[in-house]
Amino acid sequence: MKILVIGSGGREHAIVDALARSPKAEKIYCAPGNAGIARQAECVNLKDTDVEGLLAFAKKEQIDLTVVGPEAALAVGVVDRFQAEGLTIFGPTKAATRIESSKEFAKELMQKYEIPTAGFRSFTLYEEALAYVKSRPLPAVLKYDGLAAGKGVVIAETMEEADAALKDMLQDDKFGKGKVVIEDFLTGPEFSFLCFVSGEQVYPMVLSQDHKRAYDGDKGPNTGGMGAYSPLPFISEEERQWALEHVMRPTAKAMVEEGCPFTGVLYGGLMKTPQGIKVIEFNARFGDPETEVVLPRLKSDIVEVFDALAKGEVPACAKEGELEWHDFATLGIVLASKGYPEAYEKGYEIKGLEHLSKVYHMGTTAKEGKILTNGGRVLFVVGCGATLKEAQQHALAEVEKVECENLFHRTDIGHWAL
Ligand code: AMP
Ligand code: GLY
Repeated sequence: MKILVIGSGGREHAIVDALARSPKAEKIYCAPGNAGIARQAECVNLKDTDVEGLLAFAKKEQIDLTVVGPEAALAVGVVDRFQAEGLTIFGPTKAATRIESSKEFAKELMQKYEIPTAGFRSFTLYEEALAYVKSRPLPAVLKYDGLAAGKGVVIAETMEEADAALKDMLQDDKFGKGKVVIEDFLTGPEFSFLCFVSGEQVYPMVLSQDHKRAYDGDKGPNTGGMGAYSPLPFISEEERQWALEHVMRPTAKAMVEEGCPFTGVLYGGLMKTPQGIKVIEFNARFGDPETEVVLPRLKSDIVEVFDALAKGEVPACAKEGELEWHDFATLGIVLASKGYPEAYEKGYEIKGLEHLSKVYHMGTTAKEGKILTNGGRVLFVVGCGATLKEAQQHALAEVEKVECENLFHRTDIGHWAL
């Protein structure tokens, strides 16, 4: 099969790497890709949101299967457009992507189908939202209803903070005209439950956990994620089954009943609260960096999974509703440009990568035979081991082999589990 992956980060590199392990993948393209992906796929110079360009390329090269990585590509309707032209593509339609792009859609769906999540109300008027916050205990959880580049969620510890956030979102329309969802504040460890979904078919991936804060000890600003690991010792097999049967499967079923069946990766951002497992958010795509620790553990043929699910068929490799996974643990560390997630510089040379056993490129470019930093998150170094501790030691040792003067990383990825 000729396969096209859309995207350019560590997530897409991990997808390309998984595809490359399949005997069914004859040729892999990635648009636009990056310097690491270029070693395993042919990179195509097209933006991930250039739907017409991607469509023309897929037709010209007679691509058999397209896999979408980023939310931005889904949001511009790449799946709808490919499907309208009769092409096979793995990812949700624009209507199904609302489970991520609209907080209100997601919350109302969960309420209607009794999927456990924090209680909530939504507001369009600043005065009403503020009065509601004042009537309740702090901290206040305020979520802008729409895409806000990761800045749409504010956990306000004081009334002043809550007021300022509501002013931004509802009075000054900082992210555009929209609503605000105000939720109950929940506590407990968070984890990521990613599932391959097609209509009512749901195939769970192994659990993983991301680390959102920039520095060790979960300190510093929020980022896109600084590291991840799998499996999770603090979620038992019974709890995983519970989340599958009470959250992931009912959500897939609800999307079918709502007339917008979901095909793609449904990402449950879940929290293990004292009152049980609840949904914090859904994403309509693979998580980044969770994908980079989850897919290396997949034993089943991912080409078969993507292709069958994109066509609404049952993958031949799915035995008794589950895919096959390796037992080993994975733990990965992000190497980010100094300054990230605020301002940072690009263009620093990276050396030593040939000595690493598994490294996914998140933001790199190649110039005159050199690999240069080209983003906030630059590399994702994966360690493997029989236990998480071994995987952590392996990852930390591997990171030391990377030579670059403008990168930093966390040294405590996995601390929740270790
Ligand atoms: P979200 O974009 O909805 O995942 O929110 C970003 C982060 O805010 C989550 O990963 C949580 O750490 C935190 N958060 C969101 N909703 C809640 C909630 N209801 N209670 C406590 N923390 C929350
Ligand atoms: N790792 C968080 C996300 O992909 O949204």
